[in-house]
Amino acid sequence: MPHVLDPELRHALAARIRYYNEMGIYDFYRRPVSSGVGEVPIAVGEEETAVSTNQTESGEAMSPRKATAVAMPVVEENICEAIALKPEQSVSDPVQALKIIREDLGDCTRCVLHKQGRKQIVFGVGNPTAELMFVGEGPGADEDAQGEPFVGRAGQLLNNMIKAMGIEREQVYIANIVKCRPPGNRTPEREECATCSPFLMRQIAVVKPKVVVALGAVAAKTLLAMNASMMQLRGRFYDFRPAGVRSNDPNWDGCKLAVTYHPAFLLRDPRQKGEAWKDLQMVMKELGMKPPVGKNAQ
Ligand code: URA
Repeated sequence: MPHVLDPELRHALAARIRYYNEMGIYDFYRRPVSSGVGEVPIAVGEEETAVSTNQTESGEAMSPRKATAVAMPVVEENICEAIALKPEQSVSDPVQALKIIREDLGDCTRCVLHKQGRKQIVFGVGNPTAELMFVGEGPGADEDAQGEPFVGRAGQLLNNMIKAMGIEREQVYIANIVKCRPPGNRTPEREECATCSPFLMRQIAVVKPKVVVALGAVAAKTLLAMNASMMQLRGRFYDFRPAGVRSNDPNWDGCKLAVTYHPAFLLRDPRQKGEAWKDLQMVMKELGMKPPVGKNAQ
């Protein structure tokens, strides 16, 4: 049940969050709430601060001794949303906002992929206001060399798929779950996906597409935070909101997400191209697009 926080405390918390934001601190971690402790912890980076509430749920003041005997629910939702504020959210130009995310990523060493032979970070490419976004798994050798997603053989097929939809690659935005090449093109580990995907979520919140197409199981499972087979995942739309971040546009409250086969899989098993084309047609219908006459994704 949502807990209504005392307005004064909420104000104080919001002010504290703004203060940290102004110092460039945007990531907050909540200490697990241990039962019987009347505290609302707000942890900032390495440092943790606890604000004593001394309030009952009905808002009555309590003695400090009594307060420690009551388990305090976690901070209410709108404060949590404030906590999720990211630096790019104060910027209206999506090109600038994406630059901020890229700068935040820096020369990333957050997961092991940085020391497993990556040449460069492959951030994402395309129209920063695209209606349609494609998300793959992670860069391969060509992408690692060129610094751009989907430029190898799988990329050529993705380009053909995009063309078959009657649009150009430049009109969409393309990114991956992980931004560094996994050695030997292995599947990225769950930990690597979890570490890297918050940056993708932020990119999605900036681009604000109408539809995201997850290419393959890794992209689908990570974006949807669910474990299912491709057979179960395909063939329908999901309501999608990028996890842990909000767009600065109050009119964008998430988008549709569709799942289709990864182009690399389609190269290995071209018989499935027809199925992928069905997925893309579903997307086109959602976006009100018509394929050019006589085109297909072969
Ligand atoms: N496969 C992917 O998942 N992403 C790329 O960028 C290239 C190949």
